Amino acid sequence: MKLFCLLYYTSVCLKLVLVKANAKEFKSIQTTGSTRALQSKNTTDVDSASKIECALLCLSNRQCCLASFSKGTCRIDNSEKCDIGTETINGWTTIRRNIYHITPQLKDCSELPPGTSSGVYDITPVNGSTISVFCEMDTGNGGWTTIQRRFDGTVDFYRFWDDYKAGFGVIAGEHWLGNDNLHAILRQRSYQVRFDLEDYSGNTAYAIYSAMYVGDESTNYTLSLTGYAGTAGNAMVDNNGNPMNGMMFTTRDRNNDISTPYECGNRKKSGWWHASCT
Ligand SMILES: *[C@@H]1O[C@H](CO)[C@@H](O)[C@H](O)[C@H]1NC(C)=O
Ligand SMILES: *[C@@H]1O[C@H](CO)[C@@H](O)[C@H](O)[C@H]1NC(C)=O
Ligand SMILES: *[C@@H]1O[C@H](CO)[C@@H](O)[C@H](O)[C@H]1NC(C)=O
Repeated sequence: MKLFCLLYYTSVCLKLVLVKANAKEFKSIQTTGSTRALQSKNTTDVDSASKIECALLCLSNRQCCLASFSKGTCRIDNSEKCDIGTETINGWTTIRRNIYHITPQLKDCSELPPGTSSGVYDITPVNGSTISVFCEMDTGNGGWTTIQRRFDGTVDFYRFWDDYKAGFGVIAGEHWLGNDNLHAILRQRSYQVRFDLEDYSGNTAYAIYSAMYVGDESTNYTLSLTGYAGTAGNAMVDNNGNPMNGMMFTTRDRNNDISTPYECGNRKKSGWWHASCT
């Protein structure tokens, strides 16, 4: 299967490249018995039928790091640092979000609560600066941070190394998020990646790899990609059987592919982890 959009030689468009944290530390709950959050100005008591419902209420509120439940009451703690005191009272269940660290800042789109709309959000990767990203919340259970989005050909992807390094295009429209930004996201924890493809007849397919990593610029953004599932076949192997796993990034001005005599960055009119150009 060929991968590139609106280019010479190809009939398939790679519309979306999305990454999502694999981490179980999000969207899971640990409960312990017999403590509850002390009342403070940042706790809210709401009616709730069960501790599961109370846990879901906490999960749907990004500020909530702790909740406690007893007999129809769910106490949600919204304190910013999650440092509110607890007291021991029989009959209460404490529900802690299983996150080592909660801040008002998103590390990536997987921290948005379920039910949030797709759109442009600011994220701040650990040790990185704040960037605007498109959070895809409608595809594959949501929570995806968009690396590439192409759908109408309004943005030119035939660009130079420094463009791919920094990112280009319109975040709400077609864009490449930028290789430095991609690395800053992926180095935080374990990520899966999803590629969404469409051919000119409107047939769609996707490929998910359960583990993806991209090194920093000193490695030429070397790609690591394992654990395929999906409907697209192992789409990240080119027609000569060369995997993109392990490839460095190539652009029109920096050729790191294995193709001779072609330079794939030119032939494909796009930067990518090109192997050969088939
Ligand atoms: C209470 O919550 C508000 C908004 O959620 C937050 O701005 C404030 O810092 C919190 N106060 C404390 C003491 O955590
Ligand atoms: C952030 O920086 C600290 C201090 O240099 C380092 O220990 C940590 O591994 C870094 N984390 C990430 C995700 O880069
Ligand atoms: C990165 O790419 C440049 C340009 O193609 C090349 O000269 C350099 O050796 C590559 N770096 C590594 C670590 O392979």
